[in-house]
Amino acid sequence: MSSVKDLIAQMTLEEKASLLSGADFWHTRGIPRLGIEGVMVSDGPHGLRKQDQSGDHLGINDSIKAVCFPAACASTASFDRSLVHRLGEAIGDECQHEEVAINLGPAINIKRSPLCGRNFEYMSEDPYLAGEMAVDLIRGVQSKNIGVSVKHFAANDQEHRRMSSDSVVDERTLREIYLPAFEASAKRGKAWTFMCSYNRLNGTYASEHKWLLTDLLRGEWGFDGYVMSDWGAVSRRPCGVEAGLDLEMPGSNGINDAEVVKAVREGRLDEKYVDLCVEHILNVHERYLKNRKPETPWDKDADHELAGRLAADCLVLLKNEDDILPLADSDRVAIIGEFAVKPRFQGGGSSHINSFKVTSLMDALSDKANVTYAQGYRIESTDEDEALTAEALRVAAAADKVVVVAGLPDSFESEGYDRSHMQMPANQNRLIEKLAAVNPNLIVLLYNGSPVEMPWNGLVKGLIEGYLAGQNVGTANRAVLYGEVNPSGRLPETMPLRLEDTPCYLSYGGEGNTAVYSEGIFVGYRYYDRKKMEVLYPFGYGLSYTTFRYSNLVLSADHIKDTDTLTVCVDVTNTGKRSGKEVVQLYVSDPESSVFRPVRELKGFDKVELAPGETKTVSFTLDKRSFAYWSTDIHDWYVESGKFDIQIGRSSRDIVLCAEVEVTGTTEIPVTYTEDSIFMDILTNPKAVPIMQDSMQALLSTFAPSDGEGSAAGEAISADMSLAMIRYLPLRGMISFGMGNHEELKTLLDALNS
Ligand code: BGC
Repeated sequence: MSSVKDLIAQMTLEEKASLLSGADFWHTRGIPRLGIEGVMVSDGPHGLRKQDQSGDHLGINDSIKAVCFPAACASTASFDRSLVHRLGEAIGDECQHEEVAINLGPAINIKRSPLCGRNFEYMSEDPYLAGEMAVDLIRGVQSKNIGVSVKHFAANDQEHRRMSSDSVVDERTLREIYLPAFEASAKRGKAWTFMCSYNRLNGTYASEHKWLLTDLLRGEWGFDGYVMSDWGAVSRRPCGVEAGLDLEMPGSNGINDAEVVKAVREGRLDEKYVDLCVEHILNVHERYLKNRKPETPWDKDADHELAGRLAADCLVLLKNEDDILPLADSDRVAIIGEFAVKPRFQGGGSSHINSFKVTSLMDALSDKANVTYAQGYRIESTDEDEALTAEALRVAAAADKVVVVAGLPDSFESEGYDRSHMQMPANQNRLIEKLAAVNPNLIVLLYNGSPVEMPWNGLVKGLIEGYLAGQNVGTANRAVLYGEVNPSGRLPETMPLRLEDTPCYLSYGGEGNTAVYSEGIFVGYRYYDRKKMEVLYPFGYGLSYTTFRYSNLVLSADHIKDTDTLTVCVDVTNTGKRSGKEVVQLYVSDPESSVFRPVRELKGFDKVELAPGETKTVSFTLDKRSFAYWSTDIHDWYVESGKFDIQIGRSSRDIVLCAEVEVTGTTEIPVTYTEDSIFMDILTNPKAVPIMQDSMQALLSTFAPSDGEGSAAGEAISADMSLAMIRYLPLRGMISFGMGNHEELKTLLDALNS
């Protein structure tokens, strides 16, 4: 095959434009006369949704029978990079087998609110965790020479008005919260493609956003793949071509291609942009076409088994009073809830997999002699069913322990719309309360893609967050309930007590088409921790059937420059009687900062497996980014010199070890003083102090507190007020208060700025 550039040189403008949009829902175009083939793309992200017949992007028509792995809400809870890598490899193999070149995922938008309808597909409220997990998932898929499409770029954190809404996000918040996972996917994941989102970002559609798609993604992050549009996200196609949107999907029956041709002919669009898009697309497709392997075997049963094995490591044990779990074979166990036979294991919409097989909890327990079952409620109803309730209470009363499988029905959370509340169906809440009254040994197992309010939390002894665990959910649930697998998932998001507590409660969804991210960087635990708010379960939280002890926190230095790296080592010991996996979390805290910062931020994590009594040393490497915030003065990452705490924790609320390091920032934020600069700011600069000495003297005498205790003047201007007046006075105030003239002020400013 000739080089891509040679091929482009042989194409007519019409041919080039035709390559910039899809041939149909799932295929790109080719040019047979030049030997260029189109390829197939398919959703993602947690399985293969290949539609053979008529295509649609909302999961309406059936796709081929495939394997549904745990959704991202669950797989991220594993905090296990190797797990998502393995998941990615499996998806990559399936794509090779089915001749799908690009798998449309991972979806890595930040969980700004528990209400987002697509949270089940997204990874975390924390950008570092989302980025780390995305990178390994990408590496897994792409190790099979199948591309990913990292979506939805960017700030697509609600479904409400998703095709028109404008996400208004300030620069620092974008850089610290909403972009880092995408940045990691481009820089370290080397994603083959990105998918731009439907929404606007600060006024401009993502599909026409030159800064986003070209300056940032390609320029700063070095992305060398292509950007495709979300399905139908294109508004003005020629603008998109110039901005860096290479491929329009699913295409517009050639209408937008003709617009592109017209724009070039009329001189409104430089043809070089068309060439660039073609080059980006063909380069990526060549990576697949040169390495395609349809002979790759696809053993669906093996992948079903893998899906169950992976899911078991994603479940989060949230409560285990009186060691009610794990269950023993001798326990008489009542399983209650329709979900136990009809599990909800994935979300609705474009990620919906046509599972070739589903194993429910009851399927998985078929060999257990001591298990009884009652339906208890109807999934698709919120009304209590008296007969079902009565039967459930009878079955529960006769058992030693009761496991109620509860959660959100499909209609409660889906792509396309957001939730309006955080409640579970009323009939399920009520049933749990009634069950607790007849049997105190109650365990709740939840199926949901996003947090729910748990009014019954104080009534139950055991609680497992099961998320949407994929088609082999039952096997994974059984393994954890009966202790065949020791639970090791951790919450990738905070479980708040109630919706009203959430950081963007007052503004989520926006007004009309405008969604202002007014909570800024304070998303998830960054908000709850700063506000010292009580939460139901904190970020990073999760229990095990064994216990772990931390010791020997050692830093490689107690003083570094921000250009150095710091190695942090800590020992973890399994102090219990079972083997288990612990997620070691490293947070960095900047106790004193001149800007608002979260109390702590996750900057490292690792999952280690330990036999009883075993100790392992876990090590982390921190770099400039671990200490930096995004400075809007220099438009770059900036480390403010000072002391930082390195905290090792079991969750964002349970810090077990802490050590201090002094970090010296090597970047200076240049300042230019003006007449409006205030004394307080000027005096923080040591170089300014001697220059300001005379002015300070004059100020101190002008603003000296009135003396004479009890006098009216003495009460009017206290020492504190006098100090405040000096601190907040702009330089120009020296003229107002008779301490100088314009010329003197200019001389002072020249000295300060020299
Ligand atoms: C979704 C994407 C998906 C695409 C194709 C869109 O509606 O937002 O995530 O990949 O459809 O199905």
